[in-house]
Amino acid sequence: LPTETEKMMRAHELLRQFYHHILVNTNKGQEALEYLQQRNFTREIIDYFQIGYCLDEWDTSLKFLKAKGFDEDILEKAGLIIRGEKNNTYFDRFRGRIIFPISDYKGNTVAFSGRVLGNGQPKYLNSPETPIFQKSQTLFNFHNARVAIRKKQSVVLFEGFADCIAAFSAGIENGIGTMGTALTEEHIHLIKRNTDQVILCFDADMAGQNATLKAGEMLSNAGCVVRVAIIPDGKDPDEYIIKNGAELFKNVVIGGSIPFMSFKMRFFRIGKNLDNEGDRLAYIEKVLEEISKLDNAVERDIYLRQLAEEFSLSLDALKQQQRKIFYSIR
Ligand code: UTP
Ligand code: MN
Ligand code: MN
Ligand code: MN
Ligand code: MN
Repeated sequence: LPTETEKMMRAHELLRQFYHHILVNTNKGQEALEYLQQRNFTREIIDYFQIGYCLDEWDTSLKFLKAKGFDEDILEKAGLIIRGEKNNTYFDRFRGRIIFPISDYKGNTVAFSGRVLGNGQPKYLNSPETPIFQKSQTLFNFHNARVAIRKKQSVVLFEGFADCIAAFSAGIENGIGTMGTALTEEHIHLIKRNTDQVILCFDADMAGQNATLKAGEMLSNAGCVVRVAIIPDGKDPDEYIIKNGAELFKNVVIGGSIPFMSFKMRFFRIGKNLDNEGDRLAYIEKVLEEISKLDNAVERDIYLRQLAEEFSLSLDALKQQQRKIFYSIR
């Protein structure tokens, strides 16, 4: 007899196929298919990621799964249906949305995220936490990307579904997604079992930059070598690829990623006027503090020289101050 876990995974698998079928083979999926095509999702990509569409109806998924022998209580536990106000009435969680299946690290479909067509709130509706889906342990596309991650000995971390998928279309096969949530120690543990080289490629907006700083610190502290891919003009990777093409994304954005320390030297000037002496001193002090955290003496030397050159300071003075900071923070 199947366990509850097996039943919940089986329900997700059947629903994934059902949603995919509706999107690619039926008239009712036409509008969603056109929305995806207009966003540059090819048929090949839609198949590869098993993207689907759920009808804008109250209980289509429920009826479909009941006909396959599933009980309401297991489907509710799996996050696929919601119990209504009146007792024993249930309705589908996902209605009228594009469906992105989410799998665990073994490749079982364990959750869905549904995007509205166009504008609307929430933009993405996600499965709740269930016995088979914990956000803190799940990374989008991790199962598919694993071989490429090991082969390249590096992973590219995105924040969105669209980014991860657009990057894959552009030839970045070692990309995974945090799905908009903060990176956790469990995520890092999963990554580190495969590689310790991480390229962060989050959105260029302030939220994305703050997330880059946080994730970068956590990954560095866990012993990873972190680089950051910079997206010009406040865009996210998906928008960049649509505007500038796959080659520039691969060669300039990903290929031109900078060390995490260089990212921090850019990040800490945001909102500061370096022509102002107070701001300039505060900035230099902050960078020296960051340099003090580097274990590698050669690296420390590189950034100290950069700082000396940019602000026309003596390298000796900077080194002296950096050592002082080093001993005060240990
Ligand atoms: P973004 O707001 O950057 O969306 O959220 P996006 O990925 O660029 O989406 P598109 O291109 O408009 O389709 C980044 C990620 O955060 C999660 C999703 O995983 C999304 O891809 N998110 C965002 C949610 O879970 N819910 C939301 O309402 C919004
Ligand atoms: Mn198919
Ligand atoms: Mn974002
Ligand atoms: Mn985005
Ligand atoms: Mn986007």
